[in-house]
Amino acid sequence: MTTETEAPAPQAQPLEATRAEALAEIAACADARALADLQRKYLGKAGVLAAWMARLPTLPAAERPRLGQAVNLLKKELGAQIEAREQALEKVALESASAGGSFDPTLPAPAVERGSLHPLTQVTREIEDLFVSMGYQIADGPEVETDWHNFQALNIPPDHPARDSQDTFYLEGPGKLLLRTHTSPVQVRTLERLKPPLRVIVPGKAFRNEATDASHEHTFHQLEGLVVDKGVSVAHLISAMKTLLRGIFRRDLEIRLRPGFFPFVEPGFELDARCPFCTGGCSVCKQTRWIELLPCGLVHPNVLSASGVDPNVWSGFAFGLGLSRLVMLRFGITDVRLLLSGDLRFLEQF
Ligand code: DAH
Repeated sequence: MTTETEAPAPQAQPLEATRAEALAEIAACADARALADLQRKYLGKAGVLAAWMARLPTLPAAERPRLGQAVNLLKKELGAQIEAREQALEKVALESASAGGSFDPTLPAPAVERGSLHPLTQVTREIEDLFVSMGYQIADGPEVETDWHNFQALNIPPDHPARDSQDTFYLEGPGKLLLRTHTSPVQVRTLERLKPPLRVIVPGKAFRNEATDASHEHTFHQLEGLVVDKGVSVAHLISAMKTLLRGIFRRDLEIRLRPGFFPFVEPGFELDARCPFCTGGCSVCKQTRWIELLPCGLVHPNVLSASGVDPNVWSGFAFGLGLSRLVMLRFGITDVRLLLSGDLRFLEQF
């Protein structure tokens, strides 16, 4: 589009000059990035043509329509030229690549790699869905904890072996902070934050300062559960645990409770389930036909009191599922260290 045949308006001459300059630059442009720069230079929001448009209101009213139209036409023309140049550059690139033997357009495209959810995430989400369907909330707490939340409020006295620096990663600096050794401190934080009645589960990481081997890792996952209400009994605990098992193993498994000691529950239990993998003994259950599944119990009155909940009114149960171990059981993983290794050869199997 030119204004050759018409008597040029005073402004049309410079617009024509802009056009000539732009076309020359586009024609000479030899790579895609420079072309994108040119597009921005001429057609961008702060570009040359936008400046022309901005100048319109300053012109005499009679000249405005003609120049406005000319600028619009030029915009279209330059857009088309840039697109054509882009295609031409692409074609040249393709031809030269295949001529040089470095690119064979007939080769099949490389397969798209699909990611998948980490097995820990898969199992966590399943259990979360199950508990949410039973009216539980999902709670969270910090991984760097205070001595109070991790130990004292959980009825773990100062001389308890669990506090041993052999087991606990203490942080340097003031405040005696530590990496939580279990997810149980979130029981305390939840009691401080929510008023009973309450039901929560807490999936999360815990840390212990121990030598690692196929069944020990310094960082591992647990899933804590806490229910506080009026008149909560062991029967409620058993019923919730049976539902949990049904959700995990997708069938009813016989369970048994053995006494277990944990300072924050009274009575405390170790819950075992019938081995879901055999009927006559196998390596998973070490020929016993029972697998140790999780520790649990009725919340100790001292724990309730420490968080300002009256143990004469309220009672509750708690459990601490070893998520890492459960994931290993579920998928037949024999080395816990694989879980957080980030090793794609491992992760790609899920
Ligand atoms: N926090 C304990 C641990 O990591 C596990 C545990 C035991 C949690 C009994 C509980 C419970 O909630 O009731 O060793």
